[in-house]
Amino acid sequence: MAARGVGLLTRLSLSAQRSQVQCPLRRLLSCPGTVAADLRREEQSSGSAETGSEDRTPKKRFSEVQNERREQAQRTVLIHCPNKIDEKKFLKFLSQHGPINSHFFYESFGLYAVVEFCQKESVTSLQNITRTPSLGPEAAIPFKSRYFNLKLRNSSNQTSELSSIQCSNQSSPSSKKLYQLLCCAESVDDQLNTLLREFQLTEENTRLRYLTCSLIEDVAAAYFPDCAVRPFGSSVNSFGKLGCDLDMFLDLDEIGKFTAQKTSGNFLMEFQVKNVPSERVATQKILSVIGECLDQFGPGCVGVQKILNARCPLVRFSHQASGFQCDLTTNNRIALKSSELLYMYGALDSRVRALAFSVRCWARAHSLTSSIPGAWITNFSLTVMVIFFLQRRSPPILPTLDYLKTLADAEDKCIIEGYNCTFVRDLNRIKPSGNTETLELLLKEFFEYFGNFAFNKNSINIRQGKEQNKPESSPLHIQNPFETSLNVSKNVSQSQLQKFVDLARESAWILHQEGKDRPSPSSNQPWGLAALLLPSVANNVSLSKKKKKPASERIKNLLDSIKSSGAENSTATNGRRAISTQA
Ligand code: GTP
Ligand code: MG
Repeated sequence: MAARGVGLLTRLSLSAQRSQVQCPLRRLLSCPGTVAADLRREEQSSGSAETGSEDRTPKKRFSEVQNERREQAQRTVLIHCPNKIDEKKFLKFLSQHGPINSHFFYESFGLYAVVEFCQKESVTSLQNITRTPSLGPEAAIPFKSRYFNLKLRNSSNQTSELSSIQCSNQSSPSSKKLYQLLCCAESVDDQLNTLLREFQLTEENTRLRYLTCSLIEDVAAAYFPDCAVRPFGSSVNSFGKLGCDLDMFLDLDEIGKFTAQKTSGNFLMEFQVKNVPSERVATQKILSVIGECLDQFGPGCVGVQKILNARCPLVRFSHQASGFQCDLTTNNRIALKSSELLYMYGALDSRVRALAFSVRCWARAHSLTSSIPGAWITNFSLTVMVIFFLQRRSPPILPTLDYLKTLADAEDKCIIEGYNCTFVRDLNRIKPSGNTETLELLLKEFFEYFGNFAFNKNSINIRQGKEQNKPESSPLHIQNPFETSLNVSKNVSQSQLQKFVDLARESAWILHQEGKDRPSPSSNQPWGLAALLLPSVANNVSLSKKKKKPASERIKNLLDSIKSSGAENSTATNGRRAISTQA
């Protein structure tokens, strides 16, 4: 029997030499004619926590970013390195195969290098000098992947001269570090921006996500040449937190494009006439073979589960080398379009992502969301709620989806499975909002708004940007932006919704009190966002009784009284102490 996955890892040896060194080494520098420099500039502007509606740098379309990143990933290799390695020699060796555009190292049960060449041919050249490992009595499968294993012949000679390798961080900060950072911030706005900066996907993490998709594409292409594996969801919609899963979409439409032109002639390819009873069955069959293939031969793919009877069939697995939990789907183009829509909303105003990250972290800290499927609210639903809330401000911070549709031109037209998914895709054609509200105010009002929302009769609808009568009786109704007859939060139970409402009211109340009596940043006391987020704070405030039966009504009344009597005249107590007795 072949050893799983091992056979696909080919070995590099640093002592293998080639004739000439073609290019000086570069670390995160760009070769002329590549997209890397552009992407880096782009990343700095759209990925930064500080950019905002005032930032009028032209922004790239989602599809442009996706295509450029995909092309970049195809020129990239992943190398499992010995723990001690001479970076200079390593790069010198690799650059024999062609100029290197950028590289970075990271740790994930071992040291890994991600190396981007300037040209695709360099990858082939490198593959041609690698050897398939000999595994003694076990057999290896000679599949030429782009995932290599570097073995040093004379490791003892090398270690003496090693300087330490700088590894790029792939995980979010610990609660303790986050706590310190938030407590040292200057304002609640600063806290929200800090949280965004610390949790958002880094440039390196994004590259690793595209590279992982590209490696899986190599495997899928053995069955479906010219297919594409595209990331979607929070990996690309700009709302992803470090550590979030990697949603992948196996796109087979590209294959159809090559044959669409050839309408004449007597020959039809066999696959075109091998019919199955429904799209769903086709999806299940495709995912079944790809899942099997990943399980048997996918380098670094472990724990492969085929979940084919789900509403949206998928293959779930862990990609060991990158550390990503992956969900592979196909025939799921609307989800890709939803990712594009969220990307647009995230790029329109800097407050969108800052607020959504805080709300998502807040929900996670209070176990309102979970990585296990169940009756919880999802991050996707929370993001839609943030967008809806920002559409409801006066003046609105975000436009409605219907408005984005009116700005669309003929090229933007998009119908998927009969659903009209058309909206303008050029971000530069949308006017920035005139709203200047602070993040602090928005966070407080978000909790207040949803702490008092009539969930029993109203639906959340970002297409129209207004509350609508619920068409069905699920506790929480959030209209799917494209498949408008569907509810994206159908799974949420009444008790989970109630927990959300209770916590939202509590958080609104804490922020109201805080506004009046904020501890100085030097006091190292949890305040603002820290008071809402950190589990240690929630625990240390004798929540045990209250958590079982939160005083939502009392807090609602308090909020009402604060509103009616004005903040100054409020009878409520000192904010900090109120947290420890209240929450
Ligand atoms: P995290 O993985 O939690 O960080 O967020 P995510 O946005 O990636 O969510 P998830 O992995 O659960 O889903 C991936 C994508 O699938 C989302 O971004 C949406 O585009 C889409 N999606 C998720 N849930 C639903 C749903 O209930 N309805 C629809 N139409 N699309 C969904
Ligand atoms: Mg996801």
